[in-house]
Amino acid sequence: MSDNKVLRAPPEYPESALPAHVHRLARPAAQQKATQLAFLRFDKADLDEAQRFWSDFGLIPVSRTADQLVMRGAGSAPAILMARKAKVSRYVGAAFTVASDTDFARLQRDSGAQPLAANAVPGGARGVSLLDPDGNEVWLITDWGAVDPLPLRAPKHHDMNALGQSIRLNATVRTYIEPATVGRLGHVVLQTTDFHTMADWYMRHLGLIPSDVQYLDDGAPFLTFFRLDLGDTPVDHHCVVIAGGLEACYEHSAWEVTDLDALGQGQQVLRVNGHEHMWGIGRHLLGSQLFDYWRDADGYAFEHYTDGDLFTSEREAHYGPFTTSALWAWGQDVPASMFPAKTPAMLWRALKLLRSGRVSLKRLLMMGKVIDTPTRPWR
Ligand SMILES: [Fe+2]
Repeated sequence: MSDNKVLRAPPEYPESALPAHVHRLARPAAQQKATQLAFLRFDKADLDEAQRFWSDFGLIPVSRTADQLVMRGAGSAPAILMARKAKVSRYVGAAFTVASDTDFARLQRDSGAQPLAANAVPGGARGVSLLDPDGNEVWLITDWGAVDPLPLRAPKHHDMNALGQSIRLNATVRTYIEPATVGRLGHVVLQTTDFHTMADWYMRHLGLIPSDVQYLDDGAPFLTFFRLDLGDTPVDHHCVVIAGGLEACYEHSAWEVTDLDALGQGQQVLRVNGHEHMWGIGRHLLGSQLFDYWRDADGYAFEHYTDGDLFTSEREAHYGPFTTSALWAWGQDVPASMFPAKTPAMLWRALKLLRSGRVSLKRLLMMGKVIDTPTRPWR
């Protein structure tokens, strides 16, 4: 008998043809629809070091004071990241643009929203601040200003030779030695101990729709990739991911770069400047992006990506089991640091969740089984 291993992809089911044991993700009516993931906000104990990392990562400083840093990408958004000087570093939250007829008064009345100060948003905007169920701040803004986009070099793949396709003749490839040009903010991934409450909140308050849903052995959704609902306008496969887990935390955020050469050359720049590489280069399975992950000095993960899937609202949600092998199609093995380490602190967290009744032993064991399953989809 051959010892050859067989590579397998995890199963995938369209929502209209779910196996009997898989539960459909319940979808509440949307109160308003987000039109764009605008920027992320962080508190940083060391703002200088944060600026050094994000600059090497490809973001561009717009303004900097002793207390605040604002950074943009090459696109027309006046900001894609804001950071405040603070005693303790933390993820604060995300800002989304919404339609200008959004009923902010109702949000203040019914959802505990607080109005934003006129100068709170770089570029100018009006809006409100909400708290999601895990306490992350979510800003909904409208009438946001715009800045002139910065010039981009032409994507290299227009000029790539492939088997049976000879395009580049009497010419060479020489990539620029520079940080990857980050054009825009793509997505943020949040872990939570209460997947259903968080997923319901983001669908209800932002009108997000599921692209891919992952379920545990009992068939209950446990992680969902959400995209904007802009009808016929194509949007990223996901702008928010809500992932079930043992703690409520920022998991990572992802920023779109020009192309694969920017991803690779950007890796060189981050490497030579001593930053901590985490995972990549590889290609994701769900969302299809070519990716490269880095950690900043506080251990927060930031992903460069290119060539992600674009869907309209037409595309049906797909479901598959919650498994690490659905994270990537090819590339370096997913690092152990992507998963909770079985430390006394993590055990204590699990016990607290059990005692509070927020998670059952059965569910904890199902989660443990996923983490213990070898990450490579070989058998
Ligand atoms: Fe990502």
